[in-house]
Amino acid sequence: MNLIKEDIRKLPFEILIDQKTISERVAELGSEITADYTGKKLVLLGVLKGCIVFMTDLMREIDLLLEIEFISASSYKTGTKQDSNMTISPVSTLSLAGKHVLIVEGIVDSGDTSVAIIEEIEKMEPASLEMVTLLDKPTSHRNKLDIKYKGFTIGNKFVIGYGLDNTQLYRNLPFIGKVAD
Ligand code: IMP
Ligand code: MG
Repeated sequence: MNLIKEDIRKLPFEILIDQKTISERVAELGSEITADYTGKKLVLLGVLKGCIVFMTDLMREIDLLLEIEFISASSYKTGTKQDSNMTISPVSTLSLAGKHVLIVEGIVDSGDTSVAIIEEIEKMEPASLEMVTLLDKPTSHRNKLDIKYKGFTIGNKFVIGYGLDNTQLYRNLPFIGKVAD
């Protein structure tokens, strides 16, 4: 890939999880989800934009009738404080009552995004609510979180590729790269 040769100078990174390892793990998650939701009405609720590559691969590994929906979460820093207010959209047009909702995340870091999304979705009274994330950084969690399905657990490092960005770039890398410190 030319992208790698050129951008490696701008943003040095090394491959952390290669394509084959990702696709094998995504297939395993798909089988697990298929078994767990057999006979149920499943909705995959992707959290943009980081979910995009993972979700399109994962949905093709799930052998069930399912619907897909997307939401996005943005945080606005309030003043000079560390705290930020999370805005989830679009919530009003989603109809999730009585459905089995599986939130699909690319990565969970502090867990703030996941907590805000879970809070909003719970108000819609789904039949069940669980989460799948490709990557989890458990040592970075600031919240108590119960993530049912995890692709890989990684340390507190910044990663790009397979949907994940640095300044909106590198989402199209087919592997997970670890950015050099
Ligand atoms: P949170 O801290 O769990 O709320 O994560 C917030 C968002 O930060 C995630 O949904 C990602 O979009 C982004 N993020 C966190 N860690 C990384 C990373 O290592 N690479 C790229 N994006 C990240
Ligand atoms: Mg980002």
